[in-house]
Formats: sequence, structure tokens, C-alpha cells
Amino acid sequence: MSKFFVTTPIYYVNDAPHIGHAYTTILADVLSRYHRTIGDDVFFLTGLDEHGQKVMQAAQKRGLSSQAHCDDLAPRFLNLWKTLDIEYDDFIRTTQERHKKIVQLVLQKVHENGDIYTDEYEGWYSIAEERFITEAEYGSGQFRDVKKLKEKNYFFKMSKYQQKLIDHIQAHPDFIRPEHRKNEMLGFLRQPLGDLCISRPKSRMDWGIEIPFDRDYVTYVWFDALVNYISTPGYGSDEAKFNKWWPADVHLIGKDILTTHSVYWTTMLFSLGLSLPKTIFAHGWWLIGQTKMSKSLGNVVNPLDLIENYGVDAVRYYLMREMVLGLDANFTFDSFIKCYNSDLANDFGNLLNRVSGLIQKNHGGQIPDPGTLGNEEERIKLEAVSLPARIKDLINEYKVQEAVSLTLDFVRILNKYMEVQAPWKLAKTDMKGACRVLYTAAEGLRISSIMLSPVMPEKTALVLSILGANQTLPVWGELKPGTVLQAHPPLFPRIEVEKN
Ligand code: MSP
Repeated sequence: MSKFFVTTPIYYVNDAPHIGHAYTTILADVLSRYHRTIGDDVFFLTGLDEHGQKVMQAAQKRGLSSQAHCDDLAPRFLNLWKTLDIEYDDFIRTTQERHKKIVQLVLQKVHENGDIYTDEYEGWYSIAEERFITEAEYGSGQFRDVKKLKEKNYFFKMSKYQQKLIDHIQAHPDFIRPEHRKNEMLGFLRQPLGDLCISRPKSRMDWGIEIPFDRDYVTYVWFDALVNYISTPGYGSDEAKFNKWWPADVHLIGKDILTTHSVYWTTMLFSLGLSLPKTIFAHGWWLIGQTKMSKSLGNVVNPLDLIENYGVDAVRYYLMREMVLGLDANFTFDSFIKCYNSDLANDFGNLLNRVSGLIQKNHGGQIPDPGTLGNEEERIKLEAVSLPARIKDLINEYKVQEAVSLTLDFVRILNKYMEVQAPWKLAKTDMKGACRVLYTAAEGLRISSIMLSPVMPEKTALVLSILGANQTLPVWGELKPGTVLQAHPPLFPRIEVEKN
């Protein structure tokens, strides 16, 4: 049995989650569910990033203590994950004792390894970015809330590991994906890498994890947050668990946090003497028009509104179907409706309605016996049995959108087969033929439902229960003739949009 350890970023608790956050979590859930269906041992980790200046300021605005603010917002994420059918294995909050202890252990170890030093630094500090910015960045005028600061701080010797990191990226083509992001990082690493300021004096900002060797400081939020990927699977607390899961198979992240993951995090791991994650996959952004969907721009789509109107599986499906992993995607209500009506209502839903309607009408509601398969049925069978291996290859390549399209292509092949064979006509002249066709279409529907189950767990479970089938690995011929079909409402009723 293989293991699969997948992580999402841990989200800032500044505000309610939006589609951008939901996307990565659904993606991780789809990959986890897929790996579970093929028998892998899965650890799916997600959680919340609760420290740092942004969270502290959000709390202050609401007149709450930082902890009370986090405790108040955390359930919004948990409830959304529940509504979205997210089956995570652990949910970390960085204010939990189990995490804080390990961040302090990491700081101690990195310090003992000689990778932390103090320095007095004077420069421009961006409150929004929570870091000192360079003179050139200051000059660009792109930074808000900037002030001159002089401070003693602790620095992590990131620069020491620059060459080692470049060598690792070059020797492991799967380490940073997609390819263009890898090249972007290699380009970035052509410049000398600075060291990382990892402390904040409590006199200025005290919402963080105390530095164990200097209680006047808390640690920088990223030095705290990234550690979640090892604190949760047992680093420093449960050796057997940690050895089982680490290194992570994939850190799924958005493109805006690629540097923190591929540079800060990996050099931290080097200092700790730990192996690096196999893959850091940076996906693109969900855009509205040409701009990123983000809370500060006020253009966010709330996933709960969509779910309430169209159901959770349609939302999961759309997000997986629409975004090519690695590229930006545009969220529009029109494309959502189009995708729903064509793929879900016309293709997938309609296949079930036709198959079950005809079995009810002409075959006493029982799955008919196929008898001997003809050429057309053998062709369908071949498509069906080759589907799992083709999907496995695509998923291993993180081509989730293509995997979904491939299954839908198969659904369309089945619909076409039904149209050409017309079992409703055959029932009048060749009952055996009608049985053969309906069995074949129902069996194809069963297999496509299993392949779509990681994306649409609820609706596919419904299809399987209508067919009296289980969520087993798809082998042709498991559908039992004689099984009584369950009555059901339409799977995905068409959405009629009023035209002006
Ligand atoms: N807390 C840090 C991550 C720490 S991981 C150790 C963080 N949090 S965040 O809440 O601001 O963003 C979390 C993720 O949401 C990022 O991967 C970001 O790319 C993603 N998204 C936020 N808006 C997005 C879109 N509009 N589209 C897609 N994903 C985007 O950064």
C-alpha cells in the first residue's frame, strides 16, 4: 500500500473563506478521495494560520482579543469544510499547544545548528507585508503603511542554503510544479538570497509564538505557519507517525505563496536535516474579470451561496472542471450555469434518467441480463476498463481537469451509444438486444460514477445506490442483473436562465 500525504495552505483567519480558499481545499479533498479509492493510505492536512499582524489587526478592528477573534472565526472554516464534504484527517490551528511547542523546538534546533544570528537593522518596514522592504521596493511606491524602523532582530541564514536549494530543484524536476513556476524560482535564485528576519519584538507585535531563547520576541508568522506541515504529522512528538508520513507528497498552494514555500520552507527543512516535500504545486488564481478574487478588492464569491442554490457537488465539479491546474481561471456565473447544464444535466444526469427510465418502463425495473456482448458493447467495455489506468496517470500528473473531462467524454460516448442503439425501439423487436444495450449503458454509468466519486461524492453515491452497486474498484460486469432499481428524482435538474 502506498501512502499519500497532501496539505493545503493554512488560511489566515482574517475573514470568512471564499471560493479561492475553497478551491485548494476541494482539490486536496479530490486527490485524497481518489487515492483512498485506489487503496492508498491517505493523510490530508488543512488548518488555520492564526498568528501575525494581519490577524491581530483584524481582531483589534472588531474590538476582540486576538484569541477570541480566532475562536470566533475558526468555526466558519470548519462549517464550510463540512458543507463542502471535505474529509480532512487533521485540522491544525497554529494557536494550539501541540503546534506552539514544535515551533519552539524548531527554533531551538535551528539556533543550535548555528543558523540563527542577531543583527541590528534599520530600514523601511511595510506593515501590510509584515516585513522590511528594500530601498527599491520602497521607491516603487507599491507598498502601503510603510515606516522607518530600527530594530535588533533574529535572522535565519537562508543564504547559506542557496546553492543546495538550486541543486535540489535542478535534480528533482517534480519538486516545483508546474514547470513555469520552477523556472520562475530558478530565475529568482539567480540573485543572491538574503537572510530571513524571523523575529518581531513584543513591544511592537506580541501576537505570535515566543522565541524560546529570547522571551522579548515572538517569531515571524511564516516561520510559525510553515512548521504546521511537520508539527501535525508528529515531528518532535511521535516519531513513528512522522516517519510514516513525512515527506509530504504534495503541498498544494496558490502561486502567491510560492517563494515562502520553495525558499523559506525548504531552507528551514535543510537546517533541520529533514527531507523536502516531493512536490510543491502552485495553482493559479480565480479571477473575476481580469482581477484576483480577494477580500480586500471586495469581489469575492461566497461558496455557500452557490451551494445553497445548486448543491455542493455542482460547485465541486465546476471548480475542478474549469481550472487547468497551474493557470488562472475566470469565475463567471454564466460559465458555471453552462458547465452545470451541459456536463451535469445533459450528459451525466441525463444518462441516468434515460437508463433508469427505460429499465422501469420496459424491463420491470430490474437491471436486465446482457447476454453475449456484441462489437459495440465490447468497444464500450474496452473504453470503460481502460479508464481507471488513464485517470491514474492524469491524477499522478496533477491533471485533474483532464481526468474529469476524460470521464465526461466516456459519459458522452455512452449517451451516443444509447442514441444509436435506441433500446426503446429495440424493446419492440429485439428484447435481447434492448437488454444488452441497457445493461452496457448502466454498467458504463456505474464505472463513470466511481471515477467521478472523488469530485462529486454525494451524487455519485446516489447513482450507485440507485443501481444497487458499491463503491468498489471498477471491474466490468459487477453490476448484478436482476437488481431492482431505486426510484429517484432527476440527478441535476436543468437550470433555466431567464433571457432578457
Ligand atoms: N496563511 C498563509 C498561508 C500559510 S501556509 C503555511 C496564506 N493564507 S491566505 O488565507 O491568505 O491564502 C491561502 C491560500 O488561498 C493561498 O494559497 C492563496 O493563493 C489562496 N487564494 C486566495 N485567493 C485566491 C484566489 N482568488 N484564487 C485562488 N486561490 C487564492 O497565504
